[in-house]
Amino acid sequence: FIFCFIPSLVFREIMFGVFPFYVCPTDNMTCNSKLAVKSDCVILPSVPPSECESWTFDTNSAPSRYLGSVRLEAYTTELIPSSDFSSDFRMYTGMNLSFSDITWSYMRFRYKQMKNRSNDLCREFHMYKSENYSDSFFDCWWIFHTFEGTNFTLEYEAVGLPWIERRKYIFQIPHPINIANDIGIEDWIPFIYVDVTEVPVLTARWQRAPSHMSVRSYRIRVFKDGASVESSIWRGPFEEEHEQLYIYDTNNVSGIYHFEVTVEGDYKYCDAGLCRTARSPDIIVGRIKLPIVLVVYTPSRSSHVEAVVALVEYLRNYCAVEALLDRLDIDSR
Ligand SMILES: *[C@@H]1O[C@H](CO)[C@@H](O)[C@H](O)[C@H]1NC(C)=O
Ligand SMILES: *[C@@H]1O[C@H](CO)[C@@H](O)[C@H](O)[C@H]1NC(C)=O
Ligand SMILES: *[C@@H]1O[C@H](CO)[C@@H](O)[C@H](O)[C@H]1NC(C)=O
Ligand SMILES: *[C@@H]1O[C@H](CO)[C@@H](O)[C@H](O)[C@H]1NC(C)=O
Ligand SMILES: *[C@@H]1O[C@H](CO)[C@@H](O)[C@H](O)[C@H]1NC(C)=O
Ligand SMILES: *[C@@H]1O[C@H](CO)[C@@H](O)[C@H](O)[C@H]1NC(C)=O
Repeated sequence: FIFCFIPSLVFREIMFGVFPFYVCPTDNMTCNSKLAVKSDCVILPSVPPSECESWTFDTNSAPSRYLGSVRLEAYTTELIPSSDFSSDFRMYTGMNLSFSDITWSYMRFRYKQMKNRSNDLCREFHMYKSENYSDSFFDCWWIFHTFEGTNFTLEYEAVGLPWIERRKYIFQIPHPINIANDIGIEDWIPFIYVDVTEVPVLTARWQRAPSHMSVRSYRIRVFKDGASVESSIWRGPFEEEHEQLYIYDTNNVSGIYHFEVTVEGDYKYCDAGLCRTARSPDIIVGRIKLPIVLVVYTPSRSSHVEAVVALVEYLRNYCAVEALLDRLDIDSR
């Protein structure tokens, strides 16, 4: 007796011929699988990485206004093979982007892995007005398991002329074993993301526990430079919404901030501090003094020079280090 299980998404995977785990169609697609094939919401083909990298989301070209909400949600995929031709199945983390109150006609977004530009994902949406959409979502897969546990930003720009709305979220992609529906409270970690658009005001948003866990209270803490500066308990009953919001005004006091969310007050286990804590990535507010590193090198080969320049860029961009470059002009002949 052979039990053969081919999840529908694996089938899609095979159909699109890209493995592993990039099932977002490369051609125009409808905004989500629930819409008719020829609908008025079109997602344009995926953008080549070099173009994706060059997109900017910070020009002040148009007046800003709320044009709809964009919610991020982490979910676990079906079981799929862990590599090409593998009989090993596992779950992956997928990210679902839900749009509601849509009043935009054009929107584009970019997911950016904080330490690796080659993993950017950009998509553009066109919404034609003849159908009246107020809600939609984007949940096609673009994941590798190597994304789990890494930090990302999501930037988007929605346009509903003459208005424009831009936002930036930062978050860590959770591991599927911490968000799956059938896990116990001791393994569950809320998915948290921070809206940094209004810096110095930060808005933490976190996904509530699956309803069967009947969690009715969460503790949220704000940290500045590693020390707790605010702590508060959020008690239900909560509305239907799947997520909670917490707004913190740093008053533009310079520092490195982060949020932590944990379940408290419903389970003895959690009250004893044994439940898992979600931690947001660090957010730098204002000007902070960076450590200074002087990189001195001998320009003997051009490949070496490139590597050193890349190292300096990396230190500057990702390690919060002020890296200075100096060349040892020694004649090496
Ligand atoms: C994809 O959508 C864009 C915008 O609606 C349209 O201009 C283009 O012709 C479409 N491409 C294909 C292959 O359908
Ligand atoms: C994504 O979110 C929409 C609603 O916002 C929901 O209908 C859909 O089932 C979600 N997709 C996944 C894979 O969770
Ligand atoms: C960046 O991501 C690509 C594709 O996932 C991978 O091949 C490469 O090794 C990564 N680079 C680093 C520095 O992690
Ligand atoms: C779209 O639908 C909403 C509610 O269903 C309604 O309030 C709104 O007027 C509609 N907009 C258009 C342009 O038809
Ligand atoms: C993500 O960010 C947090 C806090 O900024 C950091 O501690 C962690 O190492 C980062 N993860 C990765 C994989 O870079
Ligand atoms: C916050 O402080 C920085 C200097 O640290 C200043 O450049 C910036 O304008 C301030 N922002 C606000 C909103 O006050």
